[in-house]
Amino acid sequence: MIGALDHVGIAVRDLDAAVQRYRTAFGIEPAHRETVDHQGVEEVLFRVGESYVQLLRPLGPTTPVGRFLEKRGEGMHHIGYRVDNVRAALDRLRDQGHRLVDEAPRPGSRGTMVAFVHPKAFDGVLIELVEEPG
Ligand code: CO
Repeated sequence: MIGALDHVGIAVRDLDAAVQRYRTAFGIEPAHRETVDHQGVEEVLFRVGESYVQLLRPLGPTTPVGRFLEKRGEGMHHIGYRVDNVRAALDRLRDQGHRLVDEAPRPGSRGTMVAFVHPKAFDGVLIELVEEPG
C-alpha cells in the first residue's frame, strides 16, 4: 500500500532560522514553501532523494502543531507515507479497526490529498497518508 516515504514533518518555532540552518548545514535549498491555513501551519519542504524534509511552523498556539510544541517542544511531528489512493488506504485502516484522525481525505500542500492516522494506532507515531496530485 505504501509507495514511498513522502516526508518527515518536523515542528519548529522559528521557521526561517530552521530553513537557514538546513541550507547551511546540509547544502540543500527549499523546494517549496506554503501556508496551509486549514491545517494551521506554514511549511517548507526540502527534497532529499525521493522524499522531503518538511519544516513546520504553527500559525497559532491552539493549532495542532502549536499544541504539540507547547507539550513536547520542537522535534519530529509526523511521518508522511505516499499512497496511490488515500481514500482506499484510509478505508483499509478503518476496516482493520485503527483509530483515525481524519475520516475523509483533505487537501494538503502541493495539491496533494492527505489524511492523518492517530498516533495511538501506530506506536506513538502520527502517520499522514499522502496522495500526489495527478
Ligand atoms: Co505532513
